[in-house]
Amino acid sequence: MCGIVGYLGPKEKKNILLDGLQELEYRGYDSAGIAVISQGKLQHFKAVGKLENLREKARDFRSEGLGAAIGHTRWATHGKPTELNAHPHVGAFSYVVHNGIIENYQELKKELEAQGVRFLSQTDTETIVHLFEAFINKGMEPFEAFRQTIARLEGAYAILLISEAAPETIFFAKNGSPLLIAFDGDEVYFASSDTAVIGKAKEAYYLEDGEYGFASAGEVRLFDRDGPKAFSTQPLPSDKAMAQKDGYRFFMEKEIYEQSSVIGDTMLGRVLDETIEFEELPARFFEGISRIKICACGTSYHAGLTGSYLLERLAKVPCDVEIASEFRYKEPLLSTDTLFITISQSGETADTLEALKMAKRAGLKSLTICNVDNSSIVRESDAAILTRAGIEKGVASTKAFATQVMVLWMLSLYLSQRDDKLDRDRRRRELDAMRRTPKALVVEEKLHERIHRLSKRYLHGHGFFFIGRDIFFPLALEGALKLKEISYLHAEGYPAGEMKHGPIALADAELFTIALMPRSLLYDKIKSNVEELSARDATILAISPEPFELADDFIGTQHSEHSMLEFFEMMVVTQLLALEISIRLGNDVDMPRNLAKSVTVE
Ligand code: M6R
Repeated sequence: MCGIVGYLGPKEKKNILLDGLQELEYRGYDSAGIAVISQGKLQHFKAVGKLENLREKARDFRSEGLGAAIGHTRWATHGKPTELNAHPHVGAFSYVVHNGIIENYQELKKELEAQGVRFLSQTDTETIVHLFEAFINKGMEPFEAFRQTIARLEGAYAILLISEAAPETIFFAKNGSPLLIAFDGDEVYFASSDTAVIGKAKEAYYLEDGEYGFASAGEVRLFDRDGPKAFSTQPLPSDKAMAQKDGYRFFMEKEIYEQSSVIGDTMLGRVLDETIEFEELPARFFEGISRIKICACGTSYHAGLTGSYLLERLAKVPCDVEIASEFRYKEPLLSTDTLFITISQSGETADTLEALKMAKRAGLKSLTICNVDNSSIVRESDAAILTRAGIEKGVASTKAFATQVMVLWMLSLYLSQRDDKLDRDRRRRELDAMRRTPKALVVEEKLHERIHRLSKRYLHGHGFFFIGRDIFFPLALEGALKLKEISYLHAEGYPAGEMKHGPIALADAELFTIALMPRSLLYDKIKSNVEELSARDATILAISPEPFELADDFIGTQHSEHSMLEFFEMMVVTQLLALEISIRLGNDVDMPRNLAKSVTVE
């Protein structure tokens, strides 16, 4: 969720770092920083906000001669986006930049504080640099100190570290977060994505998890747990725009494929062995709360609706959900035992922000589930849980939705822990299913190919009905929204059991019904709803683990005992279906007509 760059060589280092960070700014932009060791001198600059603030701060700085330099653009996970929390983090004679989350940082921090180390920031990253220096202070060689440091870290990381203890050297390590080393002759570059080094370096090595090492005097030494390791490089692509999309045709497609890994980020440090933890929630935050009201717009509203089923079912807290633009003008009756939860990808949606201000004026406690730290809604809320989806570029929201739903599921379980609302077995089953979610979100090539082939039959007709029951009803709403946003075809989401109360009158061969038919939840009920539509000659595309003989088309999903796993798998199917239909229709998938990524007007 952050971007990192590094450079070892004779060129002027500041511009190499800033240009590289510029390419990575889409990964995070609440603060940025650089550190340079050249001719024995360590210098650093940090600034809050966009990269141009850092450029301005470092305007007069030049670095001459051979040296090592590292830079970082941040998307806050631990600690607010302040200058102190910005990377590079500094020890007495070393600097570190890090992308990822160190899960055991509190334990390490306590240990270091007991040895007299003073921490300047609230970040997990700062532990790395102090740990390294503690090993140096014990008399270890710099590389051994780095190796020992890495061995103590749990969690995900891509790390670059420079130190006066080993000038003209960059130490690096990767585990779970992307990192590559790129080369141009004797010059060595590091980056979390190749867009940062395209045009500068000619070839690159993409590190594997568990690899670490150091670069010095134009040479890179690589290690893994078995010891030294040989590696070979590959040529870097020459097209930057393509590289940003990692080879996908559209950002939306890339973001659909990213869901499996960003859900992992969302859960990191929160889904523990036996419990759910939200370090960001103040102690006793839920005291005096007996109801929840969720307020949001568009896709975020659909996530909220899904969450309301989970909150009532798992946490046993009454929960209702409102569309923010409706809530604002309905003169709602509010009571102070209600927690007001807003959900927003951007954190800037005008209606949601205004609804939040109204709730605050009425004395309600507020929590936001948001993807952008330091956004207006985060700043306005009493507490925030960040979804950690990373920047979403496609206007049609995909990975933000997935992470919002995951946070709501975790929150439901978190609240159920308060008064032991669930028995141990049930809680275990939920935690177990959560851990299996990243796998349920992996996009299989065969599935994508099948949806691509099917999509050609769905480019016309007088409308689509996405239908589902329970949590699959909000998913039906979301599937329909995705389709209409990027295909410009008319689509509606409907509770399957409601079709017979009116909409079934529309049924004929030109009405496409996308039926979400999970096996784990109300299967027989939805089956009879779909049979009713089929009897009226509607064209049925069934999405289910169970073959359905009345379906005109069928997309088979995995059998799973937990409905949330079926939910996430079917979510991917509906996203890919919208994507493939839109591509066939020749539309601009990432920037559909009439829409904007962030709706800051009423
Ligand atoms: O940034 P927000 O989540 O507050 O945005 C709310 C809606 O504008 C947004 O979800 C919109 O519906 C998306 N384009 C859906 O893909």
